[in-house]
Amino acid sequence: MAFLEMRGIVKRYPGVLANDRVDLSAERGEIHAVMGENGAGKSTLMGILYGLVQPDEGGIAIDGAVRRFRSPIDAIAAGLGMVHQAFKLFDSLTVWENVVYRDEPRRGPFIDRAAARRRVAELARRYDLPVDPDARVGDLPVGVKQRIEILKALYRDARILILDEPTAVLTPRERDGLFVVMRSLAADGRTILFVTHKIHEVMAVTDRITVLRDGRVAARLVTAETDAQAIIRAMTGRNVSLKVDRTPAVPGRPLLQVDGLTLDAPGRPAVDGVSFAVRAGEIVGIAGVAGNGQTELVEIVAGLRAADAGTVRVDGRDVTTAGVAGRRVAGIAYVPEDRAHTGTALRASATDTLSMGFHRRAPLSRHGVLDRGAMRRRARDLIARFGVKIPGEATAVGTLSGGNLQKVVVARELDHEAAVLIAEQPTRGVDVGAIEFIHGQLVAERDKGRAVLLVSAELTEILALSDRVLVMYEGRVIAEVPGAEATETSLGLLMAGVVEEAA
Ligand SMILES: Nc1ncnc2c1ncn2[C@@H]1O[C@H](COP(=O)(O)OP(=O)(O)OP(=O)(O)O)[C@@H](O)[C@H]1O
Ligand SMILES: [Mg+2]
Repeated sequence: MAFLEMRGIVKRYPGVLANDRVDLSAERGEIHAVMGENGAGKSTLMGILYGLVQPDEGGIAIDGAVRRFRSPIDAIAAGLGMVHQAFKLFDSLTVWENVVYRDEPRRGPFIDRAAARRRVAELARRYDLPVDPDARVGDLPVGVKQRIEILKALYRDARILILDEPTAVLTPRERDGLFVVMRSLAADGRTILFVTHKIHEVMAVTDRITVLRDGRVAARLVTAETDAQAIIRAMTGRNVSLKVDRTPAVPGRPLLQVDGLTLDAPGRPAVDGVSFAVRAGEIVGIAGVAGNGQTELVEIVAGLRAADAGTVRVDGRDVTTAGVAGRRVAGIAYVPEDRAHTGTALRASATDTLSMGFHRRAPLSRHGVLDRGAMRRRARDLIARFGVKIPGEATAVGTLSGGNLQKVVVARELDHEAAVLIAEQPTRGVDVGAIEFIHGQLVAERDKGRAVLLVSAELTEILALSDRVLVMYEGRVIAEVPGAEATETSLGLLMAGVVEEAA
């Protein structure tokens, strides 16, 4: 019997069999990947292991003892730790206060602050997780916040660590740092369950792989004995092309023009005099390390934030003072980075979510009256075209898996016949098959004559799709590179602010 055994796990939701007699086993010191398409049941299985979700059938054994977790409190006591994608930290507290929260070392009735700080610093040193125990969490970048979550689990001596899509929000350098930590935890005898859609990460850091498909185990693979195409076939049942077919762009007139955009911030401006144009029939990619002004720039262009200086024009029309709704009418469609907050209302149905922002106009509305039938037909059509895994168009989008929710937002915005399409992290959290499809759609929209502004933390995505690449560094566009000439190395240097050597 392996150190961790999940046997015959079944979980049913209305209209969905999320886990169907799933077996998963992992040894001490093993890094085990859990893979599968969006909605395959990965997060459900991890939620069951961590006591967040109650299984309908099946059992868990750890180190030979059968366990039943009624809540994460039980799971933590049994040696489990989980790092969620949305961190659960207190921004106003320090690093050490967050780590020891609710398990503070005591001296008599008091918290032993010195001992707490010392233990956090020791753990950080031992596992190469550089943090300043006294820093205030709210001031730290995401990569550091994730380290704190890992420290929290280690402080409670987690023997099994669950990481559900931990790299989605990390920069390449932060991700490499995480892999170093994962390896040292495994070398220390801990078991890591690693959920990701990124095959190169699985190849780089895992020992074995469990592939789920439609709630069932589709394959168990040994990483060293398999390859990317075999994993993709196990997940999807077909071959998926990781290359994007596209002809050179034939750009027309400028549809999006941005001039001198500036957003003040304490210290230096968050966006500093940015000017560029995106023409009809081209994809312009914005590359940059997270936190260099890309998010703010996009928010200004989309109308979510006002600039302190500069103008935005859509097809020649000044929309600088227009809000989100005004810009939609002027011709901007927008796939936001933060889909759970800006893109959707989680209690709304798929029909309503897919209609949001378009419901006041034909064909979804006639003489000011909503045409529910037309809305439902459009929703059914988009769900089918984008392969959204959902029981029906009336289902609330809040119950969808992460990647399926992303597909809903992308489908709505791509279907919008706007002149300008802003796609921010359009494939974050979606599976390989959906990445292939969304990339194909972005190129098709370009070829229809739309102007596409692509913002992505994935250099491979920027390189695969962009006709021109703008590199942002410290709020400014410091370089423009033709897509055909850009390489991962040259962009990497530019993103680090090194202009001469890259040129
Ligand atoms: N609370 C819930 N209520 C109803 N259905 C749910 C609930 N949670 C999950 N599901 C459904 O169970 C299925 C599996 O979802 P799960 O979140 O486990 O997928 P996943 O493999 O993690 O996908 P992703 O890669 O998109 O994160 C999906 O069809 C989802 O819609
Ligand atoms: Mg998931």
